[in-house]
Amino acid sequence: MHTDLPSSTAVTVRQFASADAASRALADDVTAAIAAKPELILGLPTGKTFIAVYRAMVASYRRKELSFKSIRSFNLDEYLGLSPEDYGSFAHYMKIHFFDHVDIHRNNVHIPSGTADDAIKAAEAYEALIEAQGGIDMQLLGIGRNGHIGFNEPGSTRESCTRVVDLTASTLASNTSDFPHGHLPPTQAITMGIDTILSARRIILLATGQAKAAAVYSALHGPISVNNPASFLRFHGDVTLFADADALSYSADSLP
Ligand code: GLP
Repeated sequence: MHTDLPSSTAVTVRQFASADAASRALADDVTAAIAAKPELILGLPTGKTFIAVYRAMVASYRRKELSFKSIRSFNLDEYLGLSPEDYGSFAHYMKIHFFDHVDIHRNNVHIPSGTADDAIKAAEAYEALIEAQGGIDMQLLGIGRNGHIGFNEPGSTRESCTRVVDLTASTLASNTSDFPHGHLPPTQAITMGIDTILSARRIILLATGQAKAAAVYSALHGPISVNNPASFLRFHGDVTLFADADALSYSADSLP
């Protein structure tokens, strides 16, 4: 998948009084986008940060402010070796936090398979399916402490597409708390690539809390580099960062 991109553009930053306010505003943006285009193709993330966004979207659905019945969704990533029944899988996360509570059609939900016989082929097929369906209208994204987006760890290139990746020790450490006591996350995943993400027509990044401040600062102001995957978002042209004050609290002086 390929797009013509400007050389480097700014990211629009919207700061909110709290993580909850940022999450609710992001959910409102998604609601507005679905109202404008009921067949929206939505790129979806997982992670602790987005639980509040899904909660707000479900609340909005229960107030009958929107319907998800015509949207199609593509999740960013999935752990290799986990099935949708596994507690730590992103398919399970999506089910318990979002899909089970709204009217989205299961046939319109897409998540990379963690259990395909041939994961490399499954990743290529996922990329092709996104393209065949017309590409992602709105990609929602979180950010890892090391600047990863999806599971594009440092080292991921601008041209990367959906593929099998190895996870870093720092990501595994951050995500261990998503698993039952005594269980560790798998060390590999399938993730959309940087190019897949940048091919979305609009991108919304959510970062909340002090733990994300350095990654956010580097994404917005650091060198655009494979060492800092989120920095590639500055090539896109329509990226909005929703953040609380803590996530925006780094200054150049405090960069490592
Ligand atoms: C995970 C996911 C990302 C997510 C990030 C941050 O590993 N693959 O899509 O944005 O890490 O997660 P959290 O919100 O839990 O900090």
